[in-house]
Amino acid sequence: MPKWLKDAVFYEIYPQSFYDTNGDGIGDFNGIIEKLDYIKELGCNALWINPCFDSPFHDAGYDVRDYKKVAPRYGTNSDLYRLFGEAHLRGIHVLLDLVPGHTSEEHEWFLESQKAEKNEYSNRYIWTNAAFQPAKDFLYIGGETERDGVYVLNFFKCQPALNYGFLEPQEDWQLPMDHPDCIATRDAMKDVMRFWLDHGCDGFRVDMADSLVKNDDEKKTGTSAIWREVREMLDEEYPEAAMVSEWNAPVKAINQGGFHMDFYLNWGGNGYNSLMRDYDTGEDNSYFKKDGKGDITRFLDEYTPRYEATKENGYYCLITCNHDTPRPKFNLDDSELKIAYAFIFTMPGVPFLYYGDEIGMRYQKELKTKEGGYQRTGSRTPMQWNSEKNAGFSTCPADALYLPVDTAPDAPNVADQAAEKDSLYNTVKDLIALRHREEDLQADADFEAVYAEVGKHPFVYRRGGILVALNPTTETATAPVSADGWKVIFSIGSGKAENGTITLAPQSCIVLK
Ligand code: GLC
Ligand code: CA
Repeated sequence: MPKWLKDAVFYEIYPQSFYDTNGDGIGDFNGIIEKLDYIKELGCNALWINPCFDSPFHDAGYDVRDYKKVAPRYGTNSDLYRLFGEAHLRGIHVLLDLVPGHTSEEHEWFLESQKAEKNEYSNRYIWTNAAFQPAKDFLYIGGETERDGVYVLNFFKCQPALNYGFLEPQEDWQLPMDHPDCIATRDAMKDVMRFWLDHGCDGFRVDMADSLVKNDDEKKTGTSAIWREVREMLDEEYPEAAMVSEWNAPVKAINQGGFHMDFYLNWGGNGYNSLMRDYDTGEDNSYFKKDGKGDITRFLDEYTPRYEATKENGYYCLITCNHDTPRPKFNLDDSELKIAYAFIFTMPGVPFLYYGDEIGMRYQKELKTKEGGYQRTGSRTPMQWNSEKNAGFSTCPADALYLPVDTAPDAPNVADQAAEKDSLYNTVKDLIALRHREEDLQADADFEAVYAEVGKHPFVYRRGGILVALNPTTETATAPVSADGWKVIFSIGSGKAENGTITLAPQSCIVLK
């Protein structure tokens, strides 16, 4: 296990939208480098950068055309190597986004694979034997290639699935996992990983990590065996490199697949969704809404068993948001976000902050789709740095921006919030600093719910020798928890522990030691 993960706090950067240094309207590597001091001051000591590789950008770069070359719009490979170096100088680790399940339809491997004549790449993707033979049970495309066959997709039309084989082949066009051509796909992906690790990157966020082996069983036996093998390579060659999976199944990802971390993703109706985004039915019952209709046990019932089952092997990670998810500001105001973030930054595992969530950037639902974003586009707008032109993101004309900046009169920005003592930004900064100061609030220390009753408030939990008590509601809340004599080491709002009772004022959080 890479030691640095224990106290890591990640910052996710969507490179298109972070900071533009050459006035072309799109973020770039130099922009990230210029803002490393900002990230460090906020307290984040690790980055995950969304795909920044050469791509036709039909899915914002998740359609990789060349794994070893960066997209010119962000700079050059040397710029990215320099970014690694500058980050390291500041104690910041950098994860790139690895997209192992599919490539762009313009990747050289695919251009070879679709040729009529057999070649080294013919089996790099999954093809049936004839253009009129469907790839039953899969998304597929036919009629577009020289080759007489249809090919399987992993996601959008532009993303043919790489061939890691089938757990139990059912048809003659399905190769077993141990077929030499499927092993060649695995080796090609390891080669990509080594390439970036050798140039100074510190690991990968792995896109659709569960998607490799087709017809895999419920336990994901095939796919997790491949990841286990990757973990062995890392343990041997790059023991400080870290891997986080987009999987949201920590027993599979961590215990079986050997991932160091797995994301707790926002899936409709799940535990994480119940915290901040439970509004799909029309009524908002999110736990962190101040009207107090939420119920923390909906989170705990799902989270706790997964945490218990995986805590010895890795980290099940909480996120504020990501590039696929509506920003939390969509339904939570800053006072609600402060309590939600107090929770995220005091829980076990490694927290991930999505750029802009530290100032409560809005989810711009009304935006038209950009580069395959669709409803995700609203979470991908330019970072709001200050009240100058284009919110300080770029000097280009407004109509040349990658996506429009939020022009709402009350659109938050970093400069204003940094100057305001009680801003969301300063609360996030204080919370992260608290986490760095207190080992018991970091990734490893034990977690236990101490007071968590159906539909009641507050919620009190223990991390090692620390107690955290949260009251997201507008009513005073009390819990029969004895922490008399404990010291309040952090607070939002106010609260106390007296006579065997913890009392929290409305919308408050206290941390006791
Ligand atoms: C993951 C990414 C998403 C992308 C998809 C296909 O879910 O997070 O942005 O579109 O995979 O690569
Ligand atoms: Ca630029």
